[in-house]
Amino acid sequence: MELAAFLTNLERLAVEAEQAFQTANDAVAVENARVQYVGARSGQMKSLQKEMGSLAALDRPAGGKKLNEVKQRIQSALDGAVARASTQPTAALGPKLDPTLPGRRIRLGHLHPITQTIEHLKQIMGRLGFGVAEGPEVEDTWHNFVALNIPEDHPARDPLDNFYLSVAEQTAIDNVGANARLLRSQTSTVQIRVMESTAPPIRIISLGRVYRPDEADATHFPMFHQMEGLWIDRHVTMAQLKSVLRMFATNYLGGDVSIRFRPSFFPFTEPSVEVDFLWNGNWIEFGGAGMVDPNVLSAVGYDSEQVTGFAFGLGVERLCMRRHGVLDIRDLYRNDLRFLQQF
Ligand code: DAH
Repeated sequence: MELAAFLTNLERLAVEAEQAFQTANDAVAVENARVQYVGARSGQMKSLQKEMGSLAALDRPAGGKKLNEVKQRIQSALDGAVARASTQPTAALGPKLDPTLPGRRIRLGHLHPITQTIEHLKQIMGRLGFGVAEGPEVEDTWHNFVALNIPEDHPARDPLDNFYLSVAEQTAIDNVGANARLLRSQTSTVQIRVMESTAPPIRIISLGRVYRPDEADATHFPMFHQMEGLWIDRHVTMAQLKSVLRMFATNYLGGDVSIRFRPSFFPFTEPSVEVDFLWNGNWIEFGGAGMVDPNVLSAVGYDSEQVTGFAFGLGVERLCMRRHGVLDIRDLYRNDLRFLQQF
């Protein structure tokens, strides 16, 4: 190719490209022009560059000089167009973007208040040296009753007070008898499971759901949570039980919480007590506790002459409700976001 023709072609390309970038008024148009003129594969610049090879050797310096100059002109036209387009809404995006409008807030979910409470209780009890154990929610009568020293004729086993599962192959009587299964009515079941599989010493808590056929009202719900505690070792005493519960209450409820034991009865502890915390000037019952009954220790194969222990069971909803000022347990399970979002 003649040098003159080459230079003319370059100049024409430069002018054309400059004009194209000048009139490209949004990002899409700029990109189209970029591909057309300086695209690496089929851009017009690319094909002109190839024609350099057909110039006479003597003409190449002049051709190369013009080529570089045109490259620079096109590049700065492109840069200018990109800068202008970035402040312009893209036509293809439809109506103009108004950056001053407030954004739409993304709603993030979070853990349910009872789940948060459980995590908190685990932390506090963890600092007091208690590990976490778990057990199934569908239990057999051995773990829910028998091993806990609750005999066959005990009223706690009444079908009206428990969710027995009906099992097709069993007779109606078997459904509440020795082979029956039920939704556990207390987390004390986990005490048995842990002791059956572990030698003393033991220091655990277990947090989970329990089920009782109660009519729902402000303080009852057919499903709720308990925190069970168990400490088995040589020479464990009731005084230790009281200090652990007092430290726990002081940590969870805040301030220096007083604690009171009232004599009570549970088949699996002897002696047994109800546990009250003094909270905002009122004594409030949070659960039961006691020294593990020797019959329970024997049921799991422990030597009750060698080890003693204490156990306790506290209501998790009750703790959570007191701490956060919730007055109706049903609020925790209505799944009303206006309520849940406050936690
Ligand atoms: N399981 C009892 C209940 O659900 C609470 C309880 C009382 C648990 C005394 C214990 C205990 O571990 O020692 O009412």
